[in-house]
Amino acid sequence: MSRKIILKLEKLNKKYKESVENLHIIRDLDLEIQEGEFISILGKSGSGKSTLLNLIGMLDKPDSGKIFIDGKEVEFLKDKELDKIKNEMLGFVFQFHYLLSEFTAIENVMLPALVGNYKEKEKIKERAYKLLEEMELKDRINHKPMQLSGGEKQRVAIARALMNSPKILLMDEPTGNLDEETSEKIHTILKRINKEKNQTIIVVTHSKELSNISDKKLFLKKGVLNYDENKL
Ligand SMILES: Nc1ncnc2c1ncn2[C@@H]1O[C@H](COP(=O)(O)OP(=O)(O)O)[C@@H](O)[C@H]1O
Ligand SMILES: [Mg+2]
Repeated sequence: MSRKIILKLEKLNKKYKESVENLHIIRDLDLEIQEGEFISILGKSGSGKSTLLNLIGMLDKPDSGKIFIDGKEVEFLKDKELDKIKNEMLGFVFQFHYLLSEFTAIENVMLPALVGNYKEKEKIKERAYKLLEEMELKDRINHKPMQLSGGEKQRVAIARALMNSPKILLMDEPTGNLDEETSEKIHTILKRINKEKNQTIIVVTHSKELSNISDKKLFLKKGVLNYDENKL
């Protein structure tokens, strides 16, 4: 069965303009990802993994090339429109959770859906509860970030990223700060949402365990992605 291409990158280029030299980090990079795939991106520190993820996540603009999400070319529109597309299409989880400290777990999860949608508050709350339940956190919904462990905070961040049913869940070293046991729980949850909800996941990671549960490992080297770790 051929599946839908959910993400397509065409000849993507990104340079950072430093004083004398240009750092050409992403070089004519092509990529196609099918709906429901669980992809891990590996590579040495400084190879450009975060740069690539930020381009896909529309947190940064490429110098050239095209990005298609669900068949639509991402245009780098005005900030407000861009925010809307970003909010609806993509869920982002970073190494550090970025939860708002004044809000409880469930409020943090509700926030991305609440903006401009306040009338739907009860429905949104129900969905946030369901997501936290899936993250095995239903007895922590009223905890503030300070009252949660590192792994719990990261699971709240994942629930928040899933709140608007994103086409793609993007994660930049989501278990980079966590111990093995805590990470394992997150890996199990990610595998489950990938299988049960057909959630497309792209994760940048140094973790062998996490990359081993993905469908496909891609290695970023010299600005392009390879299937083979040893290929130049
Ligand atoms: N905003 C920036 N300005 C200039 N150089 C940057 C910037 N962000 C990253 N870089 C450089 O680009 C390279 C790739 O960075 P990054 O994408 O963070 O790598 P990774 O996530 O694989 O460790 C690094 O050499 C880094 O120093
Ligand atoms: Mg990085």
